[in-house]
Amino acid sequence: MRVIVLLWLACLTTPLAHAAGEPAGERERIAIIGTGNVGAALGRRWGALGHEITYGSRDPATAQVAALVADSGPRARATTPAEAVRDAGIVVLAVPWTAAEEVVRGLGDLDGRVIIDPINPSRFADGRVELGHPGLAEQIASLAPGAEVVKALNTTSYRNMLEPPADASITVPLAGDGAEALARVARLVAELGLEPRHVGPLYNARYLEAMGNLYIYVNVFQRPEPRLEYRF
Ligand SMILES: NC(=O)c1ccc[n+]([C@@H]2O[C@H](COP(=O)([O-])OP(=O)(O)OC[C@H]3O[C@@H](n4cnc5c(N)ncnc54)[C@H](OP(=O)(O)O)[C@@H]3O)[C@@H](O)[C@H]2O)c1
Repeated sequence: MRVIVLLWLACLTTPLAHAAGEPAGERERIAIIGTGNVGAALGRRWGALGHEITYGSRDPATAQVAALVADSGPRARATTPAEAVRDAGIVVLAVPWTAAEEVVRGLGDLDGRVIIDPINPSRFADGRVELGHPGLAEQIASLAPGAEVVKALNTTSYRNMLEPPADASITVPLAGDGAEALARVARLVAELGLEPRHVGPLYNARYLEAMGNLYIYVNVFQRPEPRLEYRF
């Protein structure tokens, strides 16, 4: 049993054994809710790697969304958020934190889905970046009890999702409770050319949300060169 657990942890805590930018094998049906910076970056990259991308947008018929679909692999499409999740295995919530609860409620039945939550509940006030929520990922999980939520991709910029460093030197911490869900998300993160690292149960997502706010504070207010990136 101990050996199995150690092997599982090794899978999650080391970069996967394929080169950045190469698909690991299994193709996923990925619904991406939101067509902004993060949604578009992930859809473009995963679509190019052969995953099936369905964007869920409030306005799926715009020219901007059509251009994004055309750039997101041969099987990409756009529709409403509720329709997008219907056949999906993975659901990415690439929406503002203030809209998250309403968006999740509007998606309907999410049983069996893996939800990737990259959301930073950030509120700018008096030169600070405050946490707008004490534990958003867990709240999302409570709204979708039949799904597995994995907090991921909230601690780096969408720019690194689009163009990762050649040496996969940016760590993407993942918090979640389901081993299979974590493994699938880790594989998708590694395919982007980033380094997935499991950092514990979904409870710990609150710490990733704080790390996300710290990342935003440093890069927005201190503006270091090079930018702050997390590497474990
Ligand atoms: N920007 C980054 O580098 C970065 C990095 C890590 C994590 N994040 C997190 O990822 C999430 C998305 O960030 P983003 O930069 O992609 O944001 P964004 O460019 O503002 O895009 C958010 C998208 O969410 C959709 N949406 C749904 N309901 C909405 C509502 N009520 N108001 C506004 N948009 C709504 C919109 O897509 P439709 O119009 O198609 O519905 C919109 O384009 C945020 O929670 C953010 O904290 C961002």
